[in-house]
Amino acid sequence: MVHLEHRLARADVIGEGGFTYEDWELLLRRGDEVRAKVRKMGPGFCRLPYDDPSDMVRFARERRGMYSDLVVVGIGGSALGAIALISALSHPYYNILPEEKRGGPRVFFSDNVDPWQLRGLLDVLEPRRTLFNVVTKSGGTAETVATFLVVRRFLEDALGGSWREHVVVTTDPERGDMREVAGREGLPAFPVPPDVGGRFSVLSPVGLLPAAFAGIDVGELLAGARDMDLRLKNSSPEEDPAYIGAALNWIFYGKGKRMTVMMPYSRALKELAEWFRQLWAESLGKKLDLEGKVVQVGPTPLRALGATDQHSQVQLYVEGPPDKFFTFIVPEDYGADFVFPEYYPDLDAMGYLAGRRMSELIKAEQIATAYALAEAGRPSMTIKLPKVDPYHLGGLLYMFEMQTAYAGELFGVNAYDQPGVELGKRATYALMGRSGYEGLRGEIEKFLGGIVI
Ligand code: PA5
Repeated sequence: MVHLEHRLARADVIGEGGFTYEDWELLLRRGDEVRAKVRKMGPGFCRLPYDDPSDMVRFARERRGMYSDLVVVGIGGSALGAIALISALSHPYYNILPEEKRGGPRVFFSDNVDPWQLRGLLDVLEPRRTLFNVVTKSGGTAETVATFLVVRRFLEDALGGSWREHVVVTTDPERGDMREVAGREGLPAFPVPPDVGGRFSVLSPVGLLPAAFAGIDVGELLAGARDMDLRLKNSSPEEDPAYIGAALNWIFYGKGKRMTVMMPYSRALKELAEWFRQLWAESLGKKLDLEGKVVQVGPTPLRALGATDQHSQVQLYVEGPPDKFFTFIVPEDYGADFVFPEYYPDLDAMGYLAGRRMSELIKAEQIATAYALAEAGRPSMTIKLPKVDPYHLGGLLYMFEMQTAYAGELFGVNAYDQPGVELGKRATYALMGRSGYEGLRGEIEKFLGGIVI
């Protein structure tokens, strides 16, 4: 079971940088109301663990052997969840395993409009053996549809009309230009539920279709998320790890810890921290509160990887500004291990390692870092994950989504919109000459002192 420890966030343990008994009382007092509000609102992502994935799983199973490469074309919430799933649950060098060991296609992501990167990707693909999964909930995101246009040309030049057998779309079930394209061209298409925002969509076809192609047990992911849902529903605020995670972040934000660092001690979970960074930033970074008052609120999420970033970031974390709260994630079972051989018993740097395990070393490094932070009065919590497998990862993803929904209530903001990214999107349309945006183009040119592109 996923387990959260917060002893090293307590003021009676780490001193004045920690939370007090009064803080704890306050967060427990707000717990029932906050959790009830979220449950009553019933955000769409809460339903996803109960959806039936069989169409999608069948589609992936039937086609896995037909393609040597799958390319997911999407950005933000339409890419980060699938990246997190595949990097956590596949072999760490999945793409370079021989085909018979992989059992499915190599998986690549195209989540930018950097021509150098896309050229490089197309150079390593064989059109006849490649499937592109175009993922866009709105169906109109510039980066994604632009890449689709290039991809169609790449496929059509090589395959003519049968390019259509090499594209599958994941988009809104009815609306948007990508749905229209899927209809016109007869492309297979999976739905993104309209009431599920991009960053909360990992457990929909957005994340699950690529995962199924990579051979990940999608049923177990959903079972883990369902069990987590039941656990959170049936627990008190004190026992609810999603609520405690949200409430501690909120308490510490109020104490001037404006940044929150997620630091898994597991390479498999590095991209999960990247996914969380978007979930937390886009959901909580808001100008207005729920009453329309200007608050300009939001903890800045950072991500680090243990033990690697002990040699990069930890100096800053321990001695720099005391403006951060830390979340460590540690698997109990790494799924592999090494016992250190006793080659040099007389050498200080190596002798003490003999007979110990590599998993013990990485766990000791995490405890040591949390201790060094605590000793400097810097609070942290640690999430222990029994294993990085589909069941526990499904639970963890769901827990973080719920944590974000609770945090939205505590910070008093709408966790499900992203008005701050709209102007940049519209400005891009204006600069690229999309009709209806001529006025905005004029305004931008005035700002920038002339024609810019
Ligand atoms: O979380 C979000 O809502 C965003 O990050 C979107 O996922 C991102 O902008 C891509 O949008 P779309 O799926 O509509 O292409």
